[in-house]
Amino acid sequence: MKSGLEDVVAAETVLSDVDGKNGRLIVRGVSLDELVVHNSYEDVLDLLFDGFFDTKGLRAALGRARVEVFAHVAQTDPALVVLPPVDGMRALLARLDDGQGRDAALRLVAAPAVFTTALLRLKVGLTPITPNAALSHAADSLRMMSGTMPSAQQVSALDRYLVTVADHGLNASTFAARVVASTQAGLTSSVLAALSALKGPLHGGAPGPVLDMLDAAGTPANALAWLESALANGERLMGFGHRVYRVRDPRADALKGAVRVLASSGAIDPARLALAEAVEAAALDLLKRKKPDRPLDTNVEFYTALLLEALGFPREAFTCVFAMGRVGGWIAHAREQAMDGRLIRPMSVYVGPVPQVAA
Ligand code: COA
Repeated sequence: MKSGLEDVVAAETVLSDVDGKNGRLIVRGVSLDELVVHNSYEDVLDLLFDGFFDTKGLRAALGRARVEVFAHVAQTDPALVVLPPVDGMRALLARLDDGQGRDAALRLVAAPAVFTTALLRLKVGLTPITPNAALSHAADSLRMMSGTMPSAQQVSALDRYLVTVADHGLNASTFAARVVASTQAGLTSSVLAALSALKGPLHGGAPGPVLDMLDAAGTPANALAWLESALANGERLMGFGHRVYRVRDPRADALKGAVRVLASSGAIDPARLALAEAVEAAALDLLKRKKPDRPLDTNVEFYTALLLEALGFPREAFTCVFAMGRVGGWIAHAREQAMDGRLIRPMSVYVGPVPQVAA
């Protein structure tokens, strides 16, 4: 038995393929490097939802869904605002109806962006901003957060991020979504289960701690010494290692490209990028030496951290932004699982005491 279920196949899917040996991600027949160059988040939703929901007029319908879910923001009580953003967002999301159709699906796609940006503003005493249905999901998300129209470069960077993380095989949160969907509970229940799995530091909670690591390392010259002492204390280096990839995570380079573009326009301090590159190089060198039997390379979270920081998201909200993208994959997987109709119900091996049989 493998307690992490590694190598266990638990679903057939047409949605995405993670090739861990070759460092390749395919989303519905399109490889990630192609996908990030030519597509907006709405295009990728269209791709993921094809055959599962009616995708006609999806971009406009998603805009309307943002406006619709914004109505729940008015009912945000102060107790939700003080929670970590991912917990506040999850509580608001739980108020959405548990439907199975396209409108319910699009409200769920809209919700993480609308609720996260509203909560972030409420936390600092600002008024939440009403969605603009005419904008793209990425542009409107940035506008709802900052209150100003983002630049084309910022929109393109967030779009690239959302596209990059939209789907990724049977990761922990997607599996959670599929388990719930297999009981024929509705889409909201599946998304809530997935979001709860995502928030852990071994899954979607890693990019915030990546920035903490950069701050603690402080300077490129100090990077190796700091990482060495973290490893010696039994800590894991955030943004490195993956259950499936045995080579570099292809999403790391998709995002590094966006980070470089932001840096060339001055949106990222060159010293910050230099520090990140020094920490990455030192970590890779160290992991190779200290864990020679386990190939550990950069994963998606490392450059996510720099990208989201440059776009103005506070680190405590990074998991919410991950959910803004991954929610499309969760919903497509939940629908695929529900259509399959088979309840997921594995077995366990009992290793506890057995009742004594009277002689
Ligand atoms: N830093 C240091 N050591 C690491 C490591 C990391 N980031 N990731 C794995 N390892 C080590 C483990 O300590 C273990 O070493 P050991 O055999 O000497 O005990 C070995 O590699 C195997 O680890 P294991 O826990 O079996 O790997 P996994 O497949 O369960 O781990 C992750 C996958 C993602 C949970 C793990 O790599 C990790 O914790 N990474 C940091 C968090 C992160 O970036 N998460 C985002 C993932 S996209």
